Amino acid sequence: GEPWTKVGHLDEAAVGRSVLIRARAHTIRPVGRKMAFVVLRQGMSTVQCVLVVSADAGISAQMVRFAASLPKESVVAVEGVVSLPKEDLKSATQEVEIQVRKLYCIDRADPNLPITVEDAARSESEFVRAEQTGEKLVRVGQDTRLNHRVIDLRTPANQAIFRVQYELENKFREYLSSNDFIGIHTPKLISGSSEGGAAVFKLEYNGQPACLAQSPQLHKQLAICGGFRGVFEVGPVFRAENSNTHRHLCEFVGLDAEMEIMENYFEVCDIVDGLFVELFKHLNDKCKKELQTINRQFPFEPLKYLDKTLRLSYEEGITMLKEAGTEIEHMGDLNTEAEKKLGRLVREKYDTDFFILYQYPLAVRPFYTMPCYENPLYSNSFDVFLRGEEIISGAQRIHDPELLAKRAVECGIEKSSIESYVRSFSYGTPPHGGFGVGLERVVMLFCALNNIRKTSLFPRDPQRLVP
Ligand code: 4AD
Repeated sequence: GEPWTKVGHLDEAAVGRSVLIRARAHTIRPVGRKMAFVVLRQGMSTVQCVLVVSADAGISAQMVRFAASLPKESVVAVEGVVSLPKEDLKSATQEVEIQVRKLYCIDRADPNLPITVEDAARSESEFVRAEQTGEKLVRVGQDTRLNHRVIDLRTPANQAIFRVQYELENKFREYLSSNDFIGIHTPKLISGSSEGGAAVFKLEYNGQPACLAQSPQLHKQLAICGGFRGVFEVGPVFRAENSNTHRHLCEFVGLDAEMEIMENYFEVCDIVDGLFVELFKHLNDKCKKELQTINRQFPFEPLKYLDKTLRLSYEEGITMLKEAGTEIEHMGDLNTEAEKKLGRLVREKYDTDFFILYQYPLAVRPFYTMPCYENPLYSNSFDVFLRGEEIISGAQRIHDPELLAKRAVECGIEKSSIESYVRSFSYGTPPHGGFGVGLERVVMLFCALNNIRKTSLFPRDPQRLVP
């Protein structure tokens, strides 16, 4: 069978077996001249390897010295026997250790590492403890981590975060596929802004002005015009906004969906509801180990959500905020603070961290949003909140080309820039709606992380284009 054993698969059942492992040297600790401990790390798992000078095992003092001098992060191959650690030597996360017979250095790391994984993986509680014992620990700042992201990504928590992200993305595809949506890909090079506003990266496209798509909005609607009844896309979204916050990126991954609606836009809310309740269950179930690993470095409370997602109208939300004494502009959008506050109020009253806020004022929504038939000061739109922050916005769209053109002009959008889009609705278009989710935001908030840069592999923010 497979000659290489995975570190994560080592358990007491393997005691006594001879194994081959290839992994990175996490920490190296010589004990005198006759012994050395090398902790190997692979993905989210570590295991302690023990080298003891012994003629029987063929371990020379020279070999112990070689192991003790390995630079951290070197890739090594080890052959050894799985054993139970002596009680007083228990230290690694694995329940067993390896008595080394052979050790090879496959790729030697630079001994002057800019950061170590051991330092990058420390939790806040370790710093608190060190404070008490007077031990000096290195704190690796967010920017330093991102400058040396390839090392930073090796921490168990980071390995776990991107597995959670991947599960989320997969489940999104799977849920929508099984609800008769099909996956599509829309162009990222487009002729103008899709969300309105100035937050676009401009470029030249064979002598023509163009930009990077701010969302798949216009083309996912064109797919509906093109006869597809339900579509979804997982793809990059570009925003040239100069927002230096914990939750804005200049490039993020959009999870988008668009669908025909038969009666009203709450059918779109139903999809969001079904999708997210299943997603949360799936992550808690399938990613237990990952969530525990993240929790070890960044402790968080599990998410509270209801089997049927709470829906509040914008007016109900505003009333809750006003009754709690929050100053808020009526018919305005919610700022970050108001969102957080509403999140706390909803949690107290309804015991959930996840809810839908619907029927926003038309004035705070993009031009393509369908006004409320009964009261056109409002719109058939919604936002979705996770731990008091927006993760989704969605709406019914205008499918009448005349109304669409009128709304575009009212929103200050140049008519010529969206002529082809507007015309597409002239050839028979069903009522439709959809939503857009920010992948990094969902992972950040599900795990209650404090910065969206933690959930982007190589984040792009207003200051950062490298690595
Ligand atoms: O609210 P947004 O801008 O909505 C749209 O793009 C619509 N076309 C969606 C629709 O189908 N109606 O973006 C949708 C989501 C937000 O809720 C947020 O989660 C995320 O995308 N998002 C960002 N994530 C990271 N960085 C940014 N700068 C983001 N801007 C939006």
